[in-house]
Amino acid sequence: MLKNKDWNRRTFLKTSASVLAFPFVTPFNGFAQFVLTQYNNSKMITDKNTTLLPTRKLGTLEVSAMGLGCMNFHHAFYPRTTKQEAIKVIQRAYELGVTFFDTAINYGPFLSEESVGEAVAPFRDKIILATKFGYGYDENGKNIGLNSQPDYIKKMTDASLKRLKTDYIDLYYQHRVDPTVPIEDVAGVIQDMIKEGKVRHWGLSEAGEATIRRAHKVQPLTAIQNEYAVWTRDPEGEVLSTCEELGIGFVPWSPIGKGFLSGTITPNTKFDPRLDVRYNSPRFTTENLKANWKIVSLLQHIGAKKYATPTQIALAWLMTKYPFIVPIPGTTSIKHLEENVNTLQVEFTGDDFNEIENEFAKIGVHGERTTAQLSSVHDIGANLGTSSKGTHGNSPLPKK
Ligand SMILES: NC(=O)c1ccc[n+]([C@@H]2O[C@H](COP(=O)([O-])OP(=O)(O)OC[C@H]3O[C@@H](n4cnc5c(N)ncnc54)[C@H](OP(=O)(O)O)[C@@H]3O)[C@@H](O)[C@H]2O)c1
Repeated sequence: MLKNKDWNRRTFLKTSASVLAFPFVTPFNGFAQFVLTQYNNSKMITDKNTTLLPTRKLGTLEVSAMGLGCMNFHHAFYPRTTKQEAIKVIQRAYELGVTFFDTAINYGPFLSEESVGEAVAPFRDKIILATKFGYGYDENGKNIGLNSQPDYIKKMTDASLKRLKTDYIDLYYQHRVDPTVPIEDVAGVIQDMIKEGKVRHWGLSEAGEATIRRAHKVQPLTAIQNEYAVWTRDPEGEVLSTCEELGIGFVPWSPIGKGFLSGTITPNTKFDPRLDVRYNSPRFTTENLKANWKIVSLLQHIGAKKYATPTQIALAWLMTKYPFIVPIPGTTSIKHLEENVNTLQVEFTGDDFNEIENEFAKIGVHGERTTAQLSSVHDIGANLGTSSKGTHGNSPLPKK
C-alpha cells in the first residue's frame, strides 16, 4: 500500500514532469496528479472528440483509471433505462475519457451486453470491454444457476461476442466459481480462446486466494472483481494481498455501496420489491440504513474539506488503497457519471485516507453485505471471516 510519506514526496517530485509530458491531459490537481504519476501511460489515446483520462494497469492491461459499470441500465436496481438512454450514458462516458466498460451475460439477462455492444461499436478498438460468463440459461432465457462447463463456456462466449458486436473480449471474468468444475479446466478453455483470438485477458469474480492461485498457475489472471468499498472490507482478508503479490489488478464492484455511500439513499428511501435487489439486502433495512448513516457522515465530513461529494470521497479512497485498483461505479445518469469521473480532480491526500481508516474502524458496519443465498455462491476466502488457507477453495481439484 502507498505510505503517506511516499505519496507526498513522489507526487510532488513527479507531477510537473508528467503534466508536461502529456499536453493533452487536463491539468489535474492533487489526487489526479497522483493517478497520473503512478500510471501516466499515454498509449491509450482516444480520438480528438474525447478527453484523455489517466490510466491504470490491471496486470498488463491498461485501462482508464475510472471505468463504467453497465449493469444497472437493465438489471438489479430500479428504475431502469431504455437501450437508447443506456447508449447515451455509455457514449458520454467515452467522451469523458472512460475506456473501461463492464458488463455480463446476466445483466438483463443479455440486455446490457446488447446496449454496450451497440454503444461502443463506433469506437470498439479504442476501449477495453469486459464481460462475464459462468451462469446457465434455459431456452426461455431463465437463469438456471452456475455453469462453467468448458463446452458451455464456449457456446456462451460466441453468443456474447454476437451481442457485443465484436470478435474479441478484452477481459473475460468467470462470474462465480463453479463448485462442479475444476478451475484448471476453466483456465484451460480460456487459454484455448486466447489462442483463437476470442479472448485477450481473463479474471475471476468473488474468488478467494486458493482459487486465484490455482487459476493463475494455468493461465495468468489480469483482474479479480470482488465487492469492495468503504463499508465492505471483505477483500482485505486475503484477496488484495494475493493480487499484490501475483501482480493481478483489482476491480471493486459496488464501489459506492449500491448507491448508499453517495448519501442519496436515506432510511426513508423505498425500493421496488420485485425489481430492486436492495429491497432484500440486509444493509438496506431501515434500521441498518440509520445505523450506517455515520459512514455517510464521515464521507461528507471529508468531502466538505475537499470540495467533493461523498461519492467522490468513496471512490478516491478505493483508488488510494492500491494503484492496481480501478473502480467501475454503475450509473444510469449522465450527471452522476460526470461527478464520478471528476473524482480524478479531487485533492485527496494520505491524511484523508488515514482519517477514513481510523474513523471507520470505530464506526463499523451494520448488516451483512448481501443475502445468505447470494453469499453462498461466493468462494471460500471471498467473504470476510472465511479463509481459503489450507483449502483448495470451492472449485473441485482436477481428476488425476
Ligand atoms: N462481479 C459481480 O458480481 C458484480 C456484482 C454487482 C455489480 N457488478 C458491476 O459493478 C458495477 C458497479 O456496482 P453497482 O452498480 O452494484 O453499485 P455502485 O456502483 O456502488 O452503485 C450504483 C448505484 O449508485 C448510484 N450512483 C452512481 N453514481 C452516483 C452519484 N454520483 N450520486 C448518487 N448516486 C450515484 C446509481 O444510481 P443512478 O443510476 O441514479 O446514478 C446506482 O443506484 C455494476 O454496474 C456492474 O458492472 C459486478
